[in-house]
Formats: sequence, structure tokens, C-alpha cells
Amino acid sequence: MVAHRVLAPSKPTVPHVSGAAVPDPEAGDHQRFERAFRERELGFRGDARVRYERAVEREAVVYRLQRAAPRGAAVLDAGCGLGAVTRALLRAGFRVIALDFALARLRALQAAAGPVAALALAQADVTRLPLAPASFDAVVCTQVLEHIPAAAARRAVLASFCRLLRPGGTLLLTVYNFSGPWRRRGQPAEGLHDTGVFYHCYTASELERELAGLDILELCGLIHLLPRTYRLFPRLGPLARTIDHGLERPTPLSLRWGNLLLAYARRS
Ligand SMILES: C[S@@+](CC[C@H](N)C(=O)[O-])C[C@H]1O[C@@H](n2cnc3c(N)ncnc32)[C@H](O)[C@@H]1O
Repeated sequence: MVAHRVLAPSKPTVPHVSGAAVPDPEAGDHQRFERAFRERELGFRGDARVRYERAVEREAVVYRLQRAAPRGAAVLDAGCGLGAVTRALLRAGFRVIALDFALARLRALQAAAGPVAALALAQADVTRLPLAPASFDAVVCTQVLEHIPAAAARRAVLASFCRLLRPGGTLLLTVYNFSGPWRRRGQPAEGLHDTGVFYHCYTASELERELAGLDILELCGLIHLLPRTYRLFPRLGPLARTIDHGLERPTPLSLRWGNLLLAYARRS
């Protein structure tokens, strides 16, 4: 049965996408994300390393999208979370549907963004997207795919992103990279974070295979200047980020040392 959450009228409301398959509240995944949000992410905001990583990722995504799509283009931010990327997309002049299955995150985004005509919020599960085919100029999905527990479901999500794009539309995706730092720390490629949230780390070749239905314009590593010196970066300001962006190339170095993988692809 599809469950609907009813919000008190005095609270900000987050509309469901019409006909959306809202996740069953009994199911664990979105509850784990709600909990992780409460326990961890508010604390993370003050963390220099996380601030640095998020800025590099946000800039990398928006920079490419600005070259791929005009201002006013319709963008789906799938798994928007607290909306750090969503708000950067709005600042760049895109119209955004920000979608997540975790209501607390959508509410936090709504409170932070305020009433913005170019933003619509939707509570839905990316594994069951009810949106019309070919209705977006771009789909942005940052650090979400790797949290979907089954490989088949992750593949189905990518296929649904492809269907949602208009011909010529752009997909910008970031996922955990099973790169040098992960391996050196001895962290497994797949497992549970201490919040209970599932993760699957991709290799570049695996991600390339999964994106076979799209034209891949770029597949590179993101966030290279970590982990040891990041505390210096806030002081160095944009310079460090500029150097980091300079390393964003499909080279073995970038693919091996980037904390994340970024895929920039187009529907033909
Ligand atoms: C690590 S956060 C990334 C948030 C955001 N994309 C960003 O870059 O700041 C992962 C987000 O994906 C959402 N998410 C995970 N699985 C989802 C699913 N099946 N459907 C909708 N949202 C999902 C979580 O609720 C969480 O907000």
C-alpha cells in the first residue's frame, strides 16, 4: 500500500509528486537517512574537510551543467538531501525539482531555500520515479546511487534517469570512488556506514559499464587534495579548489585518487 505523510498545516508543506510512489514508512532505508541527518549531518556542516569536499563537488557539477544547458533549463535533483547542490543549481538560474524520500531533509531544504518560484520539492523514491519520460533537460544525482542496496535497482535507477531526459539531455552523477585512499584504509567496497546506511563504492570501469545506455562525455575523479592537508584549504581559499578542479580529468591519477567519481553523460 502507498503511504502518505500528512503534514500539520502550520508546518511548511512538501508536496508529493502527483502519483508518486512514496516509500513505505515501515521500510528501513529512508528512516536510516532521517536518522543520519539528525545525528550526523548537522555536525558535519562545521567540518572543514566536508565543507571543502562539498564545494569542489558542487562547483564541478554546476560548471559542467552551465556548459551543457541554458539558464532556465529543467533539472531534476534526484536525492537532493539538504539541497547544497540544489541551491547552487538555483543560483545558476536553473529550474529545479528537488526530490528525496527523506522528509526531514526536504523540510530543511525548504526552510533554507525559502519561497523560490524556480524550485519544486517532491518526496519520492528514486527507484520508483513516477515522472513523465523526456521531461528534463538534465538529471543531477550526487552521492545517492551508491546508497541503493541492490545492484539491479541501481541499474534500473540509471535507466529511469535516461528515460526522464529529453534527447540531448545531460546526466551529472557523482558516486563514491573505490580509489586509492579507500583501499589503503582497508575499507571494503561495499558495506554499512556506522549510521546503518548502505554504500557501494564504484570503480571507474564499473561505472562506465553501467552508463552504457548514454554517451559519456567525461568520467573523472573528484576531490584529490585529501586527506592530509585539507585543514589548510579553507585558508588557501579558492586557490586549492582551482587546483583540484584542474586535476578533474579522465587520467589514471584522477580516477585513482579522486574521492568521488563524476560522470557527465548525454542522452543521444
Ligand atoms: C549522501 S546524501 C546526498 C544528498 C545530495 N544529493 C547532496 O549531494 O548533498 C544521499 C541522499 O539520497 C537520499 N536517498 C537515498 N536513497 C534514496 C531513494 N531510494 N529515493 C530517494 N532518495 C534517496 C537520502 O535521503 C539522502 O538525502
